[in-house]
Amino acid sequence: MPEIVERAYLIAVIDAPKREGEDPLAELKDLLGTAGAEFAGEMIQRREHPVPATYFGKGKLAELKAEIDRLEPDLIVAEDELSPTQQRNLEERLGGIRVIDRTALILDIFAQHAHTAEGKLQVELAQLEFNFARMRGKGTILSRLGGGIGTRGPGETKLEVDQRVARKRISNLKHRLKNVSSSREVMRRQRLASRLPLIALAGYTNTGKSTLHNALTRSEVSIDDRLFETLDPTTRAYEFEGQTYLLTDTVGFIRKLPHQLVEAFHSTLEETLVAHLILHIADAGQSDTELDAMIKAVDDVLEEIGASDIDRLLVLNKIDLVDRDQLAFLSRIYPDAVLVSALTGEGFGGLLERVRDFFIARLKSVELFFTYGNGRAIGEIYRVGAGVELENTEDGVIVKARLTREDAARFARYER
Ligand code: GTP
Repeated sequence: MPEIVERAYLIAVIDAPKREGEDPLAELKDLLGTAGAEFAGEMIQRREHPVPATYFGKGKLAELKAEIDRLEPDLIVAEDELSPTQQRNLEERLGGIRVIDRTALILDIFAQHAHTAEGKLQVELAQLEFNFARMRGKGTILSRLGGGIGTRGPGETKLEVDQRVARKRISNLKHRLKNVSSSREVMRRQRLASRLPLIALAGYTNTGKSTLHNALTRSEVSIDDRLFETLDPTTRAYEFEGQTYLLTDTVGFIRKLPHQLVEAFHSTLEETLVAHLILHIADAGQSDTELDAMIKAVDDVLEEIGASDIDRLLVLNKIDLVDRDQLAFLSRIYPDAVLVSALTGEGFGGLLERVRDFFIARLKSVELFFTYGNGRAIGEIYRVGAGVELENTEDGVIVKARLTREDAARFARYER
């Protein structure tokens, strides 16, 4: 069956005056593309707040109706979160066209990109909670509010249920999620127990995290221009100067992330929490104000999930898109940042060295002595340590290595 591409018309209420060269709906359009829909047109009303009952004011609504009749899109997507009343009124007054908001659109993207059991449960939970919040007191069915672009989503078939069933399903999902999370917790502990340097890539969507992850680990992560390719975190290894590093790709951040989604994807974002170092990837090709806003947006979310005390290294990617003057400017504004191009590999050497230096600074040089027969312990040092050197003596083996403080404490009794 050929895939039907839906055409979406975007609407927004914006209080800021129009500025040349800026597209206030750029992100919504990106999200739309990611969801697999086509852009059919847009209308922006400049006013302080949306009208409580109808979102747009009366005159603008008539204008919108004329546009909708002319262009015949399949649905309307609003930039702001719509109240159930606004949604219903818009649908009624615009001739029955489906109206969704930004949150529903993001949920739809998450639904398409959730691959693991946990990802799917999280999305279903978020969809149910989103819909549940909107049906309160109405005792009505959820189905009308369910669909985003198309009618997909793990929760999709379960949406035609009443409130009581919804509530039960939500608590059931939460329970199942807890079990899934705990198995992830086991995996996480194993990874930590490996004591390898653990690095997480974090950053705004579309900044090139997957491309960089791929380039550094030469892994088979699928990437394309769509957002959220990396919903399910992947960890791969790379080697530099004989040391193995684990690199985790995480879900892309978005600005104004709806609260329900922060909750729902908490454990996905938690991947960053187990890292020793977070590489914060930002897009150097953005305008100065955009770049600044994006960096702040990521910082805010990291703060929100409790990652603020993990060391962070800012990586400005896509420098192949930037001219020399801008590069010099960026180096001045962000003196600690590493500048790279994940596409061309430019700057990789510097990045790998900075990461190496970070981990070296975390390490302590030790000199240990093992009697013969301690092969396992020595093997362990090889696995977890850096710069391991062995010297055989008559009674045993002298091992020089750099270990993390925790590992150094573990092997303290062997110290010479
Ligand atoms: P999400 O999965 O949405 O979080 O995005 P991401 O941050 O993983 O971005 P991804 O690697 O998918 O890259 C997004 C787009 O940017 C793709 O079209 C890449 O080809 C492009 N891209 C990534 N790195 C570079 C770069 O260094 N230079 C240029 N010119 N484009 C790049």
